[in-house]
Amino acid sequence: MKDLISIKDLNIEEIEEILEKSEEMEFVLKENKNLDIMKGKILATLFFEPSTRTKLSFTSAMQRLGGSVMGFEAVESLSVAKGENLTDTIKTVEKYSDIIVIRHPKEGTARYVAEVSSKPIINAGDGSNQHPSQTLLDLYSIKKLKGRIEGLNIILLGDLKHARVMKPLAYSLAMFGAKLTFASPVGLEFNKELLNEIKEKFNTNMIQTNDIYSAVNEADVVYACRIQKERFADQYEAEKLQKSFKITPEMLEGAKEDMIILHALPKVGEVDSSIDGTKYAKYFDQVAYGIPVRMAILSMVI
Ligand code: NCD
Repeated sequence: MKDLISIKDLNIEEIEEILEKSEEMEFVLKENKNLDIMKGKILATLFFEPSTRTKLSFTSAMQRLGGSVMGFEAVESLSVAKGENLTDTIKTVEKYSDIIVIRHPKEGTARYVAEVSSKPIINAGDGSNQHPSQTLLDLYSIKKLKGRIEGLNIILLGDLKHARVMKPLAYSLAMFGAKLTFASPVGLEFNKELLNEIKEKFNTNMIQTNDIYSAVNEADVVYACRIQKERFADQYEAEKLQKSFKITPEMLEGAKEDMIILHALPKVGEVDSSIDGTKYAKYFDQVAYGIPVRMAILSMVI
């Protein structure tokens, strides 16, 4: 694996291999062992959109592997402010570093950058398209917390139209044989092409609904995401939709005892904060799994 651009570039065996490697990394972390796989190597993090978890967890993962990190967010980057084109930025950064993690508002940017770069590229989000390292840590989290993916009832809930965490997640959960319910406010459904592709490739059992809470009682996993307001032309519309749904403790009264709630974070109101303290809330465990999974990814692209 040279680059990690889209979950669709990986088959099920390759995904399993990354998840196994993640398990090894988790074991190493638990044992408090120091790794020096990345000794002398530098990771560059180029974030043209804001990030907390993705940027910091790649940084933490690289440092735990004995490597070092440099990078910028768009506001800090003088060259971007000066109008430098992306090709020139990449041609420069590849001389300074060994792996490049990039997040960019435009779909397809990571793929393009991988073509011009001689160094491995990891896509940390290209617009509303893909976010494969998040998908891998989501799959890892479900496997760790539920023991399997196949046959589970999984609801993906929120802004399915714009969230780059949801498309690759739906695709890969279908690949692993989950039963899927897609719940979103009206107008924020997955596009038809994705649904057709999933149906054709994996013959997945899928339900689409705008009745957001209808399937919660049957769910093994509820995976929620916020309204992606930065992708809306009309901010008033985005705010109205954000206020239109919220998972509350009352809503979970009929839920399965061992149901879990996951979320890529940040959550901004779609999960009531009183859920955080319940047995269902597993999003901070999910955050923790981001480290071994990103350690595995880094070690596999180099
Ligand atoms: C997500 C993202 O940036 O796509 N966050 C993340 O990487 N954990 C989800 C989001 O912003 O809603």
